Amino acid sequence: MRPWTVRRALLGSAGLTLIIFGAALYLLRHAIFGKIVNNVLSLTPNSKAYEMWRDTDKMNTYLDIYFFNWTNPEDLLDLSKKPNLVQLGPYSFRERREKVNIVFHPENDTVSYQQRRTWFLDKSRSNGSLDDKICELNVVAVSAAEKTRFWPYMMQQSLSYMLDQFSSKYYVVKTVDELLFTGFEDHLISMGRMSGLDDTAPPFDRFGWFYERNGSTMFDGTNNMATGVNDIENLGKVLKWNYQNATNYYESPCNAIEGSAGEFWPPYRTTEDIRLFTPDICRPVTYEFEKEVVYKGIQGYKFALGKKTLSNDTRRHYPHQQFKYVESMTTAEGFSSADPTVIKPQPEIDRDFKEMNEGKCYCNGECSPMGVLNITACRYGAPGFISLPHFNRGDKVLASSFTGLQPVDDKHSFYITLEPTTGIPIDVAARLQVNILLRPSKSVVMFKDVPTLYFPMFWFEMKVGIPDDMFTQNKPNGVDMSQVKTEVVYMDKAGTSEDTQTRTDRRLHPKL
Ligand SMILES: *[C@@H]1O[C@H](CO)[C@@H](O)[C@H](O)[C@H]1NC(C)=O
Ligand SMILES: *[C@@H]1O[C@H](CO)[C@@H](O)[C@H](O)[C@H]1NC(C)=O
Ligand SMILES: *[C@@H]1O[C@H](CO)[C@@H](O)[C@H](O)[C@H]1NC(C)=O
Ligand SMILES: *[C@@H]1O[C@H](CO)[C@@H](O)[C@H](O)[C@H]1NC(C)=O
Ligand SMILES: *[C@@H]1O[C@H](CO)[C@@H](O)[C@H](O)[C@H]1NC(C)=O
Ligand SMILES: *[C@@H]1O[C@H](CO)[C@@H](O)[C@H](O)[C@H]1NC(C)=O
Repeated sequence: MRPWTVRRALLGSAGLTLIIFGAALYLLRHAIFGKIVNNVLSLTPNSKAYEMWRDTDKMNTYLDIYFFNWTNPEDLLDLSKKPNLVQLGPYSFRERREKVNIVFHPENDTVSYQQRRTWFLDKSRSNGSLDDKICELNVVAVSAAEKTRFWPYMMQQSLSYMLDQFSSKYYVVKTVDELLFTGFEDHLISMGRMSGLDDTAPPFDRFGWFYERNGSTMFDGTNNMATGVNDIENLGKVLKWNYQNATNYYESPCNAIEGSAGEFWPPYRTTEDIRLFTPDICRPVTYEFEKEVVYKGIQGYKFALGKKTLSNDTRRHYPHQQFKYVESMTTAEGFSSADPTVIKPQPEIDRDFKEMNEGKCYCNGECSPMGVLNITACRYGAPGFISLPHFNRGDKVLASSFTGLQPVDDKHSFYITLEPTTGIPIDVAARLQVNILLRPSKSVVMFKDVPTLYFPMFWFEMKVGIPDDMFTQNKPNGVDMSQVKTEVVYMDKAGTSEDTQTRTDRRLHPKL
């Protein structure tokens, strides 16, 4: 008898099923991004995972935001002094995710949906108040200068003149609430919109990092995801985003939509890298296998954001079918519009590429130092750059250009630990920092002599793990969780004799 048969015989299958669902549902309440994963069940309107996936309100998922307060803005032009940053926070929000406009397509085993995210301030978890005043780089002015960089000289001059007229500074002092949710007005935003010159301007009248995002379904786009019904290997993969299987934000083949939506992972994990498609940055990101870990008694594979994503010269093999071309579209349109776009294979590209410098196509022009990802194209042309908090795992120059940054890998990495047999995430820390590139401008006087800096604005953390009490609630006397999970995967469809089947014949079947 094979080992799993022994365990099954010992535990008895009826009781086992209960434990499994108890555990899986409990996991559901607490796993990555407040959603979860029940790999025993593919996603259908009747599956146990469905309700949890549709609305995470019952789970406690928190978004913790840390700001950097710039305490010496007057010293920016004094090259003997580094900008000093003081980390404030966390400002902690409970996050609810709801899926809306859900349509299942049984004909191709996919589901289409949009996502609504709502945030509720949790005062007891916060260190500070939303009224705290914070000094930050003036993102609106920097973005305007960056966008006009390649415009005719005269137009750059008028920007320069406007900044002067509005007595704008290269920093702003705003409350946390203004910076995040309520936004603040800026003359430049209204001028830019009125003049009609900038047709790629975001359709907003105020600026705030989460302005108009609370309760909106606009920002994550429309996903078409594989349900895994006929092929569990595809479970949770994003196949189309905004009705396309490629984006227009990066060069082909880096514009391919690929990777998991982050909620469901197929079972039988190997140590092969995993990929996650992240709408916030309009691209897939690779998490590299780091090590085997034991988390609260459960064996797991830990995958983390590392060199392959953070460096600017990563080579990767792309199968030729991943070379996707999008007919020219403007950047602003693609982000939220639902218009289907024709994707044409380019004959000269449609050949068998062996390897491709992924760094190069994600650089989108000039490359950045290791550790920062250029998301300018995905942010209406604002010079946004994503990194790990405190530029962890990045070029040392990035953090040492400031005082007050101290990368510590334990606190500032982004990792996903999956239980290998089921693919269920058991410990996740999603952490990213948002930075703005400040650099000298020839024609905008305010920025004439500024140093070149990737300026940190804030970072956030979403940390989810299996809570300790899971064991007291779901672990019957002497049952080891690792055995339970193994059983989940090898359950047979109709309870047929295990000994007549080999492991490779086995498929995952929902056992209800
Ligand atoms: C942020 O720094 C400024 C000085 O630049 C200070 O006046 C302000 O109180 C600080 N904010 C907080 C919340 O500590
Ligand atoms: C709360 O924030 C202050 C800075 O404003 C910091 O010195 C302190 O360590 C923080 N406390 C916690 C528990 O994070
Ligand atoms: C987000 O919107 C909800 C209502 O939809 C509200 O209760 C909540 O306070 C808002 N959150 C923030 C941070 O403004
Ligand atoms: C699956 O079918 C639906 C409905 O026809 C379609 O909208 C969707 O784009 C298809 N998905 C894929 C990946 O082809
Ligand atoms: C790539 O990153 C390295 C390490 O940070 C840096 O030295 C190099 O200048 C970058 N390459 C380009 C083309 O910017
Ligand atoms: C970042 O991307 C933008 C457009 O997508 C490009 O113009 C710019 O050169 C890139 N690199 C840097 C360092 O800004």
